[in-house]
Amino acid sequence: MKPTIAPYPLARFRRTRQSQAVRALVRENTLTTDDLIWPVFVRDGEGIEEPVPSMPGVMRRSVDLIAQAAVEAQALGIPAICIFPYTDASLKTEDCAEAWNPDNLSNRAIRAIKKAAPNIAVMTDVALDPYNINGHDGYVVDGEIINDQTIEALIKMTLAQADAGADIIGPSDMMDGRIGEMRRALEGADHHNVMILSYAAKYASAFYGPFRDAVGASGALTGDKKTYQMDPGNSDEALRMIERDLTEGADMVMIKPGMPYLDICRRVKDTFGAPTYAYQVSGEYAMIQAAAQNGWIDGEKVMLESLLAFKRAGCDGILTYFAPQAARILQG
Ligand code: PBG
Repeated sequence: MKPTIAPYPLARFRRTRQSQAVRALVRENTLTTDDLIWPVFVRDGEGIEEPVPSMPGVMRRSVDLIAQAAVEAQALGIPAICIFPYTDASLKTEDCAEAWNPDNLSNRAIRAIKKAAPNIAVMTDVALDPYNINGHDGYVVDGEIINDQTIEALIKMTLAQADAGADIIGPSDMMDGRIGEMRRALEGADHHNVMILSYAAKYASAFYGPFRDAVGASGALTGDKKTYQMDPGNSDEALRMIERDLTEGADMVMIKPGMPYLDICRRVKDTFGAPTYAYQVSGEYAMIQAAAQNGWIDGEKVMLESLLAFKRAGCDGILTYFAPQAARILQG
């Protein structure tokens, strides 16, 4: 039904903007702490909290301090935390075996968080890049990223994370067919309740730069990721990939990066109605922080507006480095 809009002055849109109370009454979308997933960086050692230079305000934390951060996040009402490991260069190999080591950094962090903050959902990242000598998300043979062999490694990685207690597996590798294989492997290992949040529409983006610094992958990466991550010019393809991943057993789907791809978020939500998330990635975070530090924008207001925009675009939640800061403001 097409609504009828009365002519001026019968219709005055400013009537419903006249006060805070009325604006609250007619507001279509809101941001709450329930919408936040907090990505964190874990590193070796104990009692260590070191700043990531290209992401002001973001830290790499040792396992003990990650657990403490999770306790704080839980108290702030943040429903989920997502772990990314800063892996020592000495552990990066061609076969990426560290990826499924039950005692690797990620898996230790999962166990520590589950113990310290049992009510926060723990999400992981599944891709080989933190463990790969050449920085790629998949195996490289003769300069080519090999799809099917990579999936075998990703399955081992997935099962190790599920065994460690991960609630949500987040494959960010963009290999074809991995969701179905992961789902079958999880079912086969009696991990029926472990969820898959597929990075289904992940673009080959320049906005990931600061993240690669944060996990120590920038130096390692040879070439680019354009043969597996999506072309920023495509939109229909995103829908086909999301449909494929949902059909293969993904419980939730993600669009990444976030702010420049809100059109994709809206199309995905309208088309499938599945739980839909966006990743406000490192470069988006860095841009806001840099401008705020220079006094060029009001950092807090821009942050909250950017997060609300994801809700308006149809997202059920946002992975954002701003999660604790946003939660503090939202909780008053
Ligand atoms: C890698 C991965 C990346 C991010 C999450 N997982 C980087 C990449 O694809 O090179 C980026 C996150 C961010 O920029 O905040 N599997």
